[in-house]
Formats: sequence, structure tokens, C-alpha cells
Amino acid sequence: MHPCILGIETSCDETSAAVISGDSVISSIVSSQAIHEQFGGVVPELASRAHIKLIVSIVQQALQKAGMQKKELTGIAVTAGPGLVGALLVGLNFAKGMAQALQIPLVGINHIEGHIYGNFLANKDIPFPHLSLVVSGGHTQLVEMPEHLSYRVIGRTRDDAVGEAFDKGAKLLGLGYPGGPLIDQNAAQGNAEFYRFPRAYLKGINFDFSYSGLKTALMLYLQTKERQFIAENMNHICASYQQAAVEVLVRKAVQAANKYQVKSVGVVGGVAANSLLRQWLKSEVENNGIKFDLPPLHYCTDNAAMIAWAGLERINRGLASDLDINAYPSWQLDEKI
Ligand code: KG4
Ligand code: ZN
Repeated sequence: MHPCILGIETSCDETSAAVISGDSVISSIVSSQAIHEQFGGVVPELASRAHIKLIVSIVQQALQKAGMQKKELTGIAVTAGPGLVGALLVGLNFAKGMAQALQIPLVGINHIEGHIYGNFLANKDIPFPHLSLVVSGGHTQLVEMPEHLSYRVIGRTRDDAVGEAFDKGAKLLGLGYPGGPLIDQNAAQGNAEFYRFPRAYLKGINFDFSYSGLKTALMLYLQTKERQFIAENMNHICASYQQAAVEVLVRKAVQAANKYQVKSVGVVGGVAANSLLRQWLKSEVENNGIKFDLPPLHYCTDNAAMIAWAGLERINRGLASDLDINAYPSWQLDEKI
């Protein structure tokens, strides 16, 4: 019998469910909560409430689109952390109830593992050892994988995540939320040499990141400029800011890939949707003779298909969770729960 896994993701502001069967995704539904836009960021309490309202219909839609009955499922994979605890609990409890009722295995997935598996889902021939650059609204990490489901975090941000730098930068520029895609779009028409924002490489060879200084540099720069100047040069400022944010990611990822002699490099998470990062990292990695893979745009930002795929890898190896599994808001990828 084909494994048939339902994935559920509710760690932040996307309510998502997906069904995979065999080695393909047969349905994937993602509902982004618009309510947060007016606040310029995700409001945790509102996110939990929106998940509660949406979860039943999103799971129903995923099953319906897959043309599948609940009883045909062979397992359920759900994000158990990291994320907003109230938001995680909605998906986790729903998944627990369903797994209990159907008497099928439940597996709690680390959200970062899910992002990494979004790449394996889209690209079936990624060789190990693999290096994954994980870049999202909450995370900036370089992860070495000697084999499936085995992780060594070799670098992480010491303060803000790069997605946060995009979002906060966009807010300072008055562009709206989420800021990453807006800066990306504006930057496409801009000159990246217009202004040189700082690149934080940190002392010595290390693979940690720091993004709080970049945002402050933008704030200080904007304070010295007239409103009209900013409006007229918005594309150039976005391009310069994006260039500074992306350059450090590319340089560190390539340096780490060479140091750890990996056979492949990937970039995952919401910021992997960034057009400059996708193209620049690909060319640098391939120039170093290393295979490069990245997920299509719809598997970069939060989705349940990536969670289902990681779940399949775990369930195939008999690594299901106990039904008393909790939500872990700051679960590290290399930490056992
Ligand atoms: O992975 P994700 O959907 O949620 C988290 O787990 O955080 O990532 C969301 C982040 C946001 O910070 C958003 O601004 C950023 O990904 N993002 C982008 C782009 N698209 C989404 N950042 C830069 N360029 C983009 N095109
Ligand atoms: Zn994410």
C-alpha cells in the first residue's frame, strides 16, 4: 500500500494542509491570514484564533482536492515547533485528534526540517553531504546534513533573522508587510551600487550571521534624507539594502560548502524566494563545482507539503511521535525533544 500522509502547518500566519501519496504531492492548500497586514506584523493571539477558524475547512479542502477519504490516510505529520505556541497548538491538537480517531501514526515535525524537506520534495536527487541555507522570517542558519534527518547547525544568526531584516527594512521604507517580496520587486528596477550598506561578516572565519546592524544602518540613512529623495530613489535604496543582506548569505554559504566539502547546496525558507539570492547563490555554488538545488517559489514560504514530506521520511523509518507530544516554540533543529 502507498503511504498517504496528511501534513498540517500552523506555526505562524499560514494555515496549511497537504496530502502526499507515494512520492508526489496530490494536494496542497495554503491560506495566508490577511488580518495581520494592518498591524505590520503577525499578532500571535489573532493568528491562533484564525487557525482555529480555518483548520477544519483547510484540511477538508486538502482531502477533497486529493480525492481522498480520511480513512485512506496512513499517517499525519504536523509542525510541533519552532513557532508561535498558540498557533502551533491548534495544528498539533487537531492532528492528534485525527490520528487518534483514525488509529494511524502521528509525527511532530520541526518547522526548519520541514523547510529543508521542501527542497528534497522538489528535487529528488540531492546528494549527501548536503548544506542547507535556511532563511526565513525567524531563522538564518547554515545546516550541514551528512545524511537524511541528520543535522549539524554550523552557523546561525546572533540577533535578527534575514527575513526580519527585509520586513523591518520595508517597514522603515513605508512599503508594507511582509516586506521581503516588496523590497525584491522594487530592487528589480534599482541600482545596487547606489549606497553601500554594511555587511556583517563578524570576526574570523565563522558561519554566524548578524542582521540587526543592517536595519539600524537603514534607519540612520533614512533619517538624513528628505521624504522626496527617498520616494524618488526607492528602487535604488531597496536594491542596495537587498544587495547587502544577500551578499553575506552567498559568501558564507559558499565558504561553508567548501570547508565542509559538501556535494550539494540548497537554500530554503521564505527568503529563498528572493530573486537575487536564488540567482547569485546558484551561480557561485555551481562555479565551485557543487550541485545546487532550490524549491520552487510555492514551497519556499510556509506550506504543509514540506511538513508531509519530512513526515514521510520519518514515518518510513518508524520514527513516529507519542500522542502526548507537546508544542515547542523554540525547538532547535539539532535538539531532541
Ligand atoms: O518561511 P516563511 O514563510 O515564514 C517563516 O517561517 O518565517 O518566511 C517568511 C519570510 C518573511 O520575512 C518574508 O518577508 C520573507 O520570508 N520573504 C522574502 C521574499 N519572499 C518572502 N524575502 C525576500 N525576498 C522575497 N522575495
Ligand atoms: Zn517558515
